[in-house]
Amino acid sequence: MTRALVLYSSVTGNTEKVAERIAETLRKEGCDVSFVRVDEETSIDLLEFDLVFLGSAVHQWLPTKTMMDYVKRMLKHYFKLGVIVPSVPIKPGKYAVCFCTFSGPHTGVSEAVPATKWMRVFLEHVGFTVLDEWHIVGEFKNSEENSTLGRLGNIKGRPDERDLAEVEERVVGILNALKLCYS
Ligand SMILES: Cc1cc2nc3c(=O)[nH]c(=O)nc-3n(C[C@H](O)[C@H](O)[C@H](O)COP(=O)(O)O)c2cc1C
Repeated sequence: MTRALVLYSSVTGNTEKVAERIAETLRKEGCDVSFVRVDEETSIDLLEFDLVFLGSAVHQWLPTKTMMDYVKRMLKHYFKLGVIVPSVPIKPGKYAVCFCTFSGPHTGVSEAVPATKWMRVFLEHVGFTVLDEWHIVGEFKNSEENSTLGRLGNIKGRPDERDLAEVEERVVGILNALKLCYS
């Protein structure tokens, strides 16, 4: 059974919605799923899992401080263990997907790309093969202006059921690709 982890940081609930749909889909598809919201204490070892979904809200083009602090803590840990070395070996059977929710009020999706890249490089340092980066639109809660007048137009209510259905399809797609790779 695939051991999957959904590890995420969310302040106003959008990323949590996406994370929940990812976890539900993984469970439906028969994975053993751990679902964890990152906080100041989190020190979960990613290498205990075969498939990791690492997600965050975007704050000033990057993941949240809570997510970045977790990553920095774990970097220290993996350096100490000798996991991170020059030309980090790619670990067989260790796959990951990075995702974020963002509002893109000023420049659109370019505001989200650095956030997933930042998380991606971390995962690659640990030896994961990162299969994809997902940028999912999320309403800018408590800001009418940023939710209606930005580069993405009116994004109130996002991620909506359509966004979440797409996430579900993508999770199934990833699992199909892995099944084919193992068979
Ligand atoms: C302090 C703060 C900074 C933000 N900075 C950005 C940003 O630079 N780019 C962007 O696209 N969205 C930005 N947003 C919008 C959030 O990324 C977006 O609404 C996201 O879906 C929130 O996720 P959450 O509900 O899981 O916290 C910001 C939101 C807050 C509260």
